[in-house]
Amino acid sequence: MQVDLLAGTTYGAAVIPKRRPTILAFDSGLGGLTVLGEAVRARPDARIVYAADDAGFPYGRLSEAELVGRVLQVMERLVARSHPDLVIIACNTASTLVLPALRARFTIPFVGTVPAIKPAAEITRSGLISVLATPGTVARDYTRGLIETYAAACDVTLVGSTRLASLAEAALKGEAVDDEAIRAELAPCFVERDGARTDVVTLSCTHYPLLLERMRRLAPWPVTWIDPAPAIARRVAQLLGPAGDHAIDAAGDAPAIFTSGAGITGPLRIALAGYGLTQVMVEPVPLAN
Ligand code: DGL
Repeated sequence: MQVDLLAGTTYGAAVIPKRRPTILAFDSGLGGLTVLGEAVRARPDARIVYAADDAGFPYGRLSEAELVGRVLQVMERLVARSHPDLVIIACNTASTLVLPALRARFTIPFVGTVPAIKPAAEITRSGLISVLATPGTVARDYTRGLIETYAAACDVTLVGSTRLASLAEAALKGEAVDDEAIRAELAPCFVERDGARTDVVTLSCTHYPLLLERMRRLAPWPVTWIDPAPAIARRVAQLLGPAGDHAIDAAGDAPAIFTSGAGITGPLRIALAGYGLTQVMVEPVPLAN
């Protein structure tokens, strides 16, 4: 099902570079790869830099004040290093909180990803929708505001998963992830009430689409899963403007930057290469405390 998510996603102001544009895709870990994949498809001419704040992962456990400080600190380093024309905050946990501070600090546009509550409310037939996200995202005032504005007529279940992002990371690193562990995280999304049941689940953490095939298989009944990545990529392409005649000869040598690099396994390097990220680098930014 095609769903237009733009109204549920926040973005910065446009910049249209004439030369080959650089897009920095940022997440706490590997979830942003699901957005990067779509961004590359939408703008194959762009130079893509992927950055994972793995020293700060998972963001879902940080307090709001810690998270704002952390993202600003890491972004200073990444912007100075890669000079992006546009940054994708490919992380709901950060986007639902930090975008105003980032836009106040930097002049480049920031495209964020926030829970797709508006499109979920538009397509549900049963009226029961679930927002599957990190504990941080479900606790945000921003998320509550989206529900009040766009889904007041729906029965919205907020599911703050403590383990699913880490399970997705483990799977991408080549570790065995038990079906039962995934099933347990999904279970609260599936609600039956007064003869109706949940029919839409928003994947409101960018890590979750990494497990989508397994989640479909493990779900107690079929639902529509909303992955916002294609809509974010369309918005990125729109902000960058028409692609020029930029050479695409550097495709496949894009860098992946980690703030710790402690968990980089052989299978992960292979997975990163599958996204065109063949240069793996560390920009050390230890988490304070
Ligand atoms: N990928 C991040 C998101 O979209 C969250 C993972 C984390 O807790 O750091 O929310």
